[in-house]
Amino acid sequence: MDKFIINGGSKINGKIAISGAKNASLAMMPACLLAPGCYTLHNTPNLRDVWTMSRLLGSMGVHCELNDHDLFVDSSKIDSFEAPYEHVKKMRASFYVLGPLLARYGRARVSLPGGCAWGPRPVDFHLKAMEKLGAEINLEGGYVVASADRLQGGKIHFDVPSVGATVNAMMAATLARGSSRISNAALEPEVTAQARMLVKMGAQIDGVGTNCLEIEGVDSLSPVNEHTIPDRIEAGTFLIGAALSQGQIVLENVNPYHLATVIAKLEDAGCEIDVRGETISLKIDEPPRPTDITTAAYPGFPTDLQAQWTALMLGADGVSSVRDTIYLDRFKHVPELTRLGADIEVNDNNAIIRGGKKLSGATVMSTDLRASASLILAALLAEGRSEILRIYHLDRGYEHIESKLQALGVDVRRVKTEEF
Ligand code: EPU
Repeated sequence: MDKFIINGGSKINGKIAISGAKNASLAMMPACLLAPGCYTLHNTPNLRDVWTMSRLLGSMGVHCELNDHDLFVDSSKIDSFEAPYEHVKKMRASFYVLGPLLARYGRARVSLPGGCAWGPRPVDFHLKAMEKLGAEINLEGGYVVASADRLQGGKIHFDVPSVGATVNAMMAATLARGSSRISNAALEPEVTAQARMLVKMGAQIDGVGTNCLEIEGVDSLSPVNEHTIPDRIEAGTFLIGAALSQGQIVLENVNPYHLATVIAKLEDAGCEIDVRGETISLKIDEPPRPTDITTAAYPGFPTDLQAQWTALMLGADGVSSVRDTIYLDRFKHVPELTRLGADIEVNDNNAIIRGGKKLSGATVMSTDLRASASLILAALLAEGRSEILRIYHLDRGYEHIESKLQALGVDVRRVKTEEF
């Protein structure tokens, strides 16, 4: 088990390159189940979640090998149609194999993910979508057992846009017989990245990038080489870190369009931001202004950046609010931030942050990926030394985070510990 030791007070200053998007990779990798053969997914981040997906695909007979940032996938031979609990409980995106397995082999046995650190995260939309495409779904011993002779096109409507259900349904519909429509589809760039890959593989999808996808099923698809988009959440985390430490940062290999709402909010908070091509520069030399955010599905403010924004607002002189409309209870970082001296009250999914208070270093515990990022940021604001336990959560989604932070001037080191 590793922990981080951070000495607060340093500014984030410098330039870094942003890695490939975890959530795009996790959607693209299972798409390789749809057509037998060899794929190269360029710009794949070297992350724990990518290893978990590689192991899951490996357990089905798919060979995955990450060299530098090129992920080689060979799906020529598949000899198992199961996603065991041991993988799904570690990472919910394991559930994405359901759609492609059903579409290509007409059967799948996929463990239900169960609960999540921040409350219920059901998969009912995924299951309803598969049923709309003609699959028979049964629940047996904690597993979804799904079958279909061949999936049939169908009309799928999501009550709220879901990233995971959209990518699962889209993969399934590409090989179904006839036409499908997915309405109120998620618009997140990671969904669009997967859709582009599917189209390159030969899928017939109209409306890519919109919330209504029209898919005409085809008999077969072909393997491709594809590039993963930059990670907008990693980029947003570093922008927020620079703003919080009143520093200056240049991010390379970003897609600024994917960050339009975050950039606008950072500007509201007083940051000076310059966007050129695939580069974003930010500077600020005074405390950020209190700025409220409400998370929403893309292109709204991402829920995956609300914990980091909460840390930012600890440095703002005044009261601000962070409301999460995507998840029911994604505020597990708040009690840990309180250990550093933060004054935050959470009611009905709304955090009221009274910023500008003195924070002092403490030992805190990571509870999930983005919560961990917010603890690092708050530790930068705190006076003295903080220890952040259970940083394996961070390794799921931030590539080389400590070397990137060190390159930006942060006094952070990773230490092995017996503490849990
Ligand atoms: N929902 C349902 N039923 C379903 C599916 C979703 O009620 O069957 C609800 C969820 O409970 C939530 C909302 O719909 O309230 C949206 O959830 P969504 O399905 O979009 O989330 P997800 O696909 O499980 C992905 C990301 C998350 C990110 C969300 C929202 C991946 C692998 N995960 O999750 O990323 O928070 O979209 O943008 O793409 C992270 O990277 O830290 C992370 C948690």
